[in-house]
Amino acid sequence: MCSIIGYKGKNFAAPILVDSLKKMEYRGYDSVGVATFDNGGIMVRKGTGKVLEVNKNLAISEMAGKIGIGHTRWATHGGVTDKNAHPHSACKNNIAVVHNGIIENYKELKEELTVAGHTFASETDSEVIAHLLEVHHGKGVRDAMIQTCKRLKGNYAFVAVFQDGTIAGARYEEPLIIGVANDGYFISSDVLGFLQYTDKAVFLENGDICIVDNSKLEVFNFEGTPVAHPITQVAWELGDIEKGKYAHHTLKEINEQKITVVHAGRQDEEIISKFCDLLANAKSVYITGSGTSYHSALIFKYMLAKFAKIRAETVMSSESQYALASIEGDSVLVAISQSGETADVLDSVKLAKNQGAKILLIVNVTTSSLARISDAFLSTNCGPEIGVAATKSFTGQLALIYNITDRLCKGCLATARAEFAVAIENVIASQASVMRVAEQMKDCTDIYLLGRSIHYPIALEGALKLKELAYVHAEGIAAGELKHGPLALMEKNTFVIMLNPHDPTFGDTISNAHEIKARGATVIGISDRKDDVYDHWIEIPQLKEESFYPIVEVIPLQMLAYQLALAKNADPDYPRNLAKSVTVR
Ligand code: F6R
Repeated sequence: MCSIIGYKGKNFAAPILVDSLKKMEYRGYDSVGVATFDNGGIMVRKGTGKVLEVNKNLAISEMAGKIGIGHTRWATHGGVTDKNAHPHSACKNNIAVVHNGIIENYKELKEELTVAGHTFASETDSEVIAHLLEVHHGKGVRDAMIQTCKRLKGNYAFVAVFQDGTIAGARYEEPLIIGVANDGYFISSDVLGFLQYTDKAVFLENGDICIVDNSKLEVFNFEGTPVAHPITQVAWELGDIEKGKYAHHTLKEINEQKITVVHAGRQDEEIISKFCDLLANAKSVYITGSGTSYHSALIFKYMLAKFAKIRAETVMSSESQYALASIEGDSVLVAISQSGETADVLDSVKLAKNQGAKILLIVNVTTSSLARISDAFLSTNCGPEIGVAATKSFTGQLALIYNITDRLCKGCLATARAEFAVAIENVIASQASVMRVAEQMKDCTDIYLLGRSIHYPIALEGALKLKELAYVHAEGIAAGELKHGPLALMEKNTFVIMLNPHDPTFGDTISNAHEIKARGATVIGISDRKDDVYDHWIEIPQLKEESFYPIVEVIPLQMLAYQLALAKNADPDYPRNLAKSVTVR
């Protein structure tokens, strides 16, 4: 949710930290702060706003020192204020801390520390870490880190700078990665925080502490026992995180889909075979994910049933503690996640794993926590997705799901898969109808999206995109449910988007469109076939295999949400109140 970064090396820290925070800003973006160490003292500058804005106001990048820590915040405990921005300092200003996660026992720790004479400057849970480090600092940084971690409950990754110029980090249920450069070390919540400077990374495990002291790195666990992790080479191209010629990352990522779906379909033979074998031989199959990734799970369930004759149960990750409470040991849980760090998905995986289930993962960030604990994972190969709303990662997940299904049904979808790329290119190229519809809808307050069968998850996904990006009330409805209630909502000012390609669902959905139109609502059809009932028609290409329509249906919805965001002066890359990677519960 928040991004954290530490640097100790031969270069000035502040400009590097600002640059890293800008690259990780998608993780959380309500406040920014940096602390640097220079001349025996720690300086802190922090404030609310986005990285460039706060840097401009506070001249953060001009701070002195070659050692420092930085943070972008996504508020959980305490409002969005300058005081609540990280870094947080201990009473004597001898330690400053940046934190990602939630300290569940912060209230009792704060009470205890207050009684012991500590004064708190913020309303955050994070500040207790700085004060605990101060309490335990008597025997040095190493002991302070160990004793502090032992007192914390909850999930956290934090990095601290100490008055002797040491930087140290610890992780528990939140990611923390060390970047090893020729002239220094980074400690970051995300490889994007240092990829510009080095592609060599050490992935800390849960319960690890690291210290960078006198330019040497030490890693040990909460008991103080040294642990050794290999240095991994991180593969992603840095160029991928630039916007290039596009106004926004989201627009770039929507446009990239013609390539990313092709990449997602390409998989290593051995790994995909192992994945498919485990899936085909499982006694029970569960599929889980959150948000957009859950919508992919719904489509996967449909594909498995139709083409591979495998029955699967879908579970929203946030509901898994109830739904997966008791499963057979020879089950398989397929987790779907772009980031590989979503707390709810990690919880589902751990719950299933503890009961003996095998974990299969569809993921975009292959260096993530989920990838590390799964039995086999397949990558969507989309490259970094920076826009907070999932776009190319969703279609990448679908392309990969089609590939897996094709394996399981012994190539029954192979010929049809070839038509993807061209179809997507055509959809992306024909934006005029979407622009016209966006113009009509820019002031609307209620949008309903209707679809049957495999189109229902796309109704849900389209509604999610419209909510996130355009801040408009939007609801995905299974078209057959219309008469069971939602029809009461149809009136003059409502807009209804029908997901209605010419497949076996077409006739029934057209009937729904007539019922809706008769109540005065405006009907928009997303279809390869024109019909008089539509007030507006968004044409999509005709596909030979109807199960592939979701990919070409969702792209106009992504574009519509993007256009409506612009019409509302909202920033499509950074929707209010949201963060890309939801690592808290
Ligand atoms: C929607 C969106 C979220 C994520 C959800 C899961 O546009 O981005 O709903 O899909 O938070 O994230 P991952 O896939 O990273 O587990």
